[in-house]
Amino acid sequence: RELHVVEDRALLSPVVNLVLLFAFPRCKFFSLTETPEDYTIIVDEEGFLELPSSEHLSVADATWLALNVVSGGGGFSGSQPIGVTKIAKSVIAPLADQNISVFMLSTYQTDFILVRERDLPFVMHTLAAEFTILRVVNGETVAADDLGITNGFVKPKLVQRPVIHPLSSPSNMFCVTSLDPDTLPTVATLLMDVMFYSNGVKDSVVGNEDSGHIRFFSFSLIEGYISLVMDVQTQQRFPNNLLFTSASGELWKMVRIGGQPLGFDECGIVAQISEPLAAADIPAYYISTFKFDHALVPEENINGVVNALQVSQAEKH
Ligand code: ARG
Repeated sequence: RELHVVEDRALLSPVVNLVLLFAFPRCKFFSLTETPEDYTIIVDEEGFLELPSSEHLSVADATWLALNVVSGGGGFSGSQPIGVTKIAKSVIAPLADQNISVFMLSTYQTDFILVRERDLPFVMHTLAAEFTILRVVNGETVAADDLGITNGFVKPKLVQRPVIHPLSSPSNMFCVTSLDPDTLPTVATLLMDVMFYSNGVKDSVVGNEDSGHIRFFSFSLIEGYISLVMDVQTQQRFPNNLLFTSASGELWKMVRIGGQPLGFDECGIVAQISEPLAAADIPAYYISTFKFDHALVPEENINGVVNALQVSQAEKH
């Protein structure tokens, strides 16, 4: 029913898609992230077909595949690194070394590394040393065959990877949460409100002086799992006890990466940020959007992280 309210707005397509999604179990991968500059939608082919073509919709070239690392459940429950930190050395750095462009989407549950479909043979060859690569086709898991790319793969020498793009750190505190899909209908209206109508709310909630505050909200529904990344002001709008957070209930601060839009071809941006975090054992979530990248680090680490990354940035000169 909410659909009618938004029909006049330029944001129609993502709204329609989101609403359809509630009724469209065929779409297995859907994510919507709001930033100050745009809405980024990552959607599978089934979902993409539901998007009306619009002059307001820019589509990244090529088709991307979502990889994620399924850790072999060793029953170890100590303080394991989470997020992009966990895969920085084994996945992110090797792909960057082979000049393979990635696009990241961390969720509450896992971290998706999107790669261009045409890069898959190179990705497999690069990761084959560390992983068994499985492909999910129509819900079935099959062994992915190595296409035998052997030419031109030189083991790269250890290179310094200075941070290239400008960084900023908004003042918001974020939480990474999940939601039982069965309770989605009860918060559907609130979600719509948060995602599409909150521009005016910010001022009254946080106060005008807070110029470092940005709009950022990320929703994903992937294979039946929901993940929500939002700031604490937004979290407070949700009914108590509905959102799950990690036991530690950590708060996160953001490093935004990029001055000019980052595009989709450049490699190594995620590696530049995640390698130093991994070296310092600092957990991090990482969300790429159409124009920029976003890393979330524990709030107590933000100053150290920003300083370290700025030192790395200075090294490029
Ligand atoms: N392709 C970049 C990398 O390989 C990350 C994505 C940046 N681009 C973007 N539109 N967010 O590190």
